[in-house]
Amino acid sequence: MNIVYLDGKFLPINQAAISPMDRGFLFGDGIYEVIPSYEGQLVGFNLHLQRMRAGLSELKIDISITTEEWLEIITELIDQNGKKNLGIYIHVSRGADTKRFHAYPEETNPTIFAYTFEIPPAPIADKAVAPRFSCATAEDKRWKRCNIKSTSLLGNVMHFQWGYERNEDEVILYNETKEITEAAACNVFIVKDSLIKTPLLDHQKLPGITRALVLDILQKHSNHKIEECTIKLDEIYSADEIWLTSSTKEIAPVTKVDGRKIGTGEIGNVWLNVQTLFCDHRFDY
Ligand code: PDD
Repeated sequence: MNIVYLDGKFLPINQAAISPMDRGFLFGDGIYEVIPSYEGQLVGFNLHLQRMRAGLSELKIDISITTEEWLEIITELIDQNGKKNLGIYIHVSRGADTKRFHAYPEETNPTIFAYTFEIPPAPIADKAVAPRFSCATAEDKRWKRCNIKSTSLLGNVMHFQWGYERNEDEVILYNETKEITEAAACNVFIVKDSLIKTPLLDHQKLPGITRALVLDILQKHSNHKIEECTIKLDEIYSADEIWLTSSTKEIAPVTKVDGRKIGTGEIGNVWLNVQTLFCDHRFDY
């Protein structure tokens, strides 16, 4: 039985319950994180917590849990659920109110929830076993605060579902001026003539931790040329390589977009190089 953490207690998932007046349930009023753990080793723990704190501060949700306490909670969950390859989901909502009223209530106790789910083993840099992603593209119809990792994910869910119904693995999104923002649940990178590009961060994109790790690892440990810049939809079709990054996928090569082959239609050599570096350095963070 999956053991979860809820408001100070560790308990079996079927005993975990929250109030229907929880603002996370009523309004999606909360922040979440997903942190990968491979056989007990976390990737990017401090960066994930920093992003969560930034989100909570945007929402003016105050919690007193320290970084050390988060680490204790997560370590206990990993121990209780077996040191497998796990995604650690942590979630803080504003908590339950006595009525449904849009403005933030004066006093609520935030609801704090964490649970684990199994993820595949840490990806290896091997073209023979790496998954090949097929994506569609669509106009980004989400809200204009995608930099906040809010639990209000309906926009992302609807985009993802649209792709899923078309047997696509993900949907690459572009804004009204045909600039790539991100994908429904990942950040996007492209490679053209050996230059690695990813959209510059702003309110239209989540500042992905995997994205940040890729950029940092490349800057510190390679001579690859990298640019954070505008990427137009057209550049997607003519890219040599495309990758999607997220905590549960790391660097996923995309070989098809809107039914068109990307590059040779096979996983590229820059991916191989970058995933190799990522494997060497993922636990530095
Ligand atoms: N999704 N953009 C969006 C919209 C995301 O939902 C995610 C992650 C990312 C990548 O961020 P990171 O590298 O920090 O995981 C980008 C998570 C994994 C999820 O919702 O399950």
